[in-house]
Amino acid sequence: MKILIATYSWSGRTARLADQIADRLPDADRYQIAVPDGTYSVTDMYATSDQATQQLKTGNYLALVNPLPDLGRYDLILVSSPVWSG
Ligand SMILES: Cc1cc2nc3c(=O)[nH]c(=O)nc-3n(C[C@H](O)[C@H](O)[C@H](O)COP(=O)(O)O)c2cc1C
Repeated sequence: MKILIATYSWSGRTARLADQIADRLPDADRYQIAVPDGTYSVTDMYATSDQATQQLKTGNYLALVNPLPDLGRYDLILVSSPVWSG
C-alpha cells in the first residue's frame, strides 16, 4: 500500500509526531505543507491566529510552497496539522 504523510506544523509539535509515524511507516512518502516565509509570525500565536481567521473569512488561501505530489498515486494519505481556532 502506497502511503503519503502530509504535514503542516507551525511550531514543530505536529512535525515531531509525523516523524514518529514515519518511523513506523518507513516506505511512506512525506510531503511538507508549507506557506511562504514571512506569512505568519514565528513567535506570536495570537497574531498568527488573527491572520489565519482573516484568510478563512476572505477565502484568501495561501499558495503552497512545495509542489503537490500526484495524490492519485496513494492508497492512503495521512494529513497532520495543529488545531487552530478549534
Ligand atoms: C495560530 C494558532 C491557533 C491555535 N488555536 C488553537 C485552538 O483553537 N485550540 C487548541 O486546542 N489549540 C490551539 N492552538 C495550539 C496548537 O494547536 C497546538 O499547540 C499544536 O500542538 C501546535 O502544533 P505545531 O507545533 O505543529 O504547530 C493554536 C496554535 C496556534 C499557533
